[in-house]
Amino acid sequence: MKRILITGALGQIGSELTLRLRDIYGADNVIATDIKKNDSEAAQSGPFETVDVTDGTRMLETAKKYNVDTVMHLAALLSATAEAKPVFAWNLNMGGLMNALETAREVKAQFFTPSSIGAFGPTTPKDLTPQDTIMRPSTMYGVNKVAGELLADYYFHKFGVDTRGLRFPGLISYVALPGGGTTDYAVEIYYEAIKKGKYTSYIDKGTYMDMMYMPDALNAIVDLMEADASRLQHRNSFNVTAMSFAPEEIAASIANYLPGFEISYAVDPDRQKIADSWPNSIDATAAKDEWGFKYEYNLDKMTVDMLEKLRKKL
Ligand code: SER
Repeated sequence: MKRILITGALGQIGSELTLRLRDIYGADNVIATDIKKNDSEAAQSGPFETVDVTDGTRMLETAKKYNVDTVMHLAALLSATAEAKPVFAWNLNMGGLMNALETAREVKAQFFTPSSIGAFGPTTPKDLTPQDTIMRPSTMYGVNKVAGELLADYYFHKFGVDTRGLRFPGLISYVALPGGGTTDYAVEIYYEAIKKGKYTSYIDKGTYMDMMYMPDALNAIVDLMEADASRLQHRNSFNVTAMSFAPEEIAASIANYLPGFEISYAVDPDRQKIADSWPNSIDATAAKDEWGFKYEYNLDKMTVDMLEKLRKKL
């Protein structure tokens, strides 16, 4: 049985992962932590502790108090915010990760943290980007993610911590909004489609990025953490993706189910630059081979579900 501490539990991934893990492992076995409590279901449906991830002592105390055997470290700044505040991003993303790895080492816990397509850079092969390839990101977020992957590898080899990770693409969900990411447009577009029937994209047409629907991302985390360790050659971190599209393609998918929907463009040069430095599409063969990664949602299936769920929510 797992007993899991999650950092950033009220963020984009944590808001849903916390609930999924409570369903699987029992509400009392999933300790949600974040910098501030709120009235969301993740904060209210089981144990919650206030933890600032830059405070390693508090994180370790919390892990010991609940006797956890798994640490899932989600708290981090996304790409656009990190680019605007690079020093803060380094301190939060790397400081938080180091504290979380140290906590896992001290309490002998299994460990998960997400990496990202942001770990790749302008010199990385852009199409079907391989699992093992050139990684010279040009953003602070990417620098943090590559360093994080290496650090997690280091904790496995040096201290035997069972570290595992995924290179997530843009994650799309109707539950918690992302904040400060480059791929956020692909979430906002559904909200605006329901509210206004149109969307102005800050990412230009023809810009391809990988994406995945949140239910598939949650399954991937659970499956990776349950996978037989002896099969994992690439612990930190596996390429995973479910689709790759450009703004005009997600707009066309929405227009199929919401006739009259229109997209226009007001490109944000900062976020466009970040998007241009990332792959068009990544190759998830290693994840499929080593632990059976699979996904259920393609673009149209996701669009149908997003529109249905957001109609109810909004
Ligand atoms: N969704 C993230 C971002 O755009 C990528 O990992 O920053």
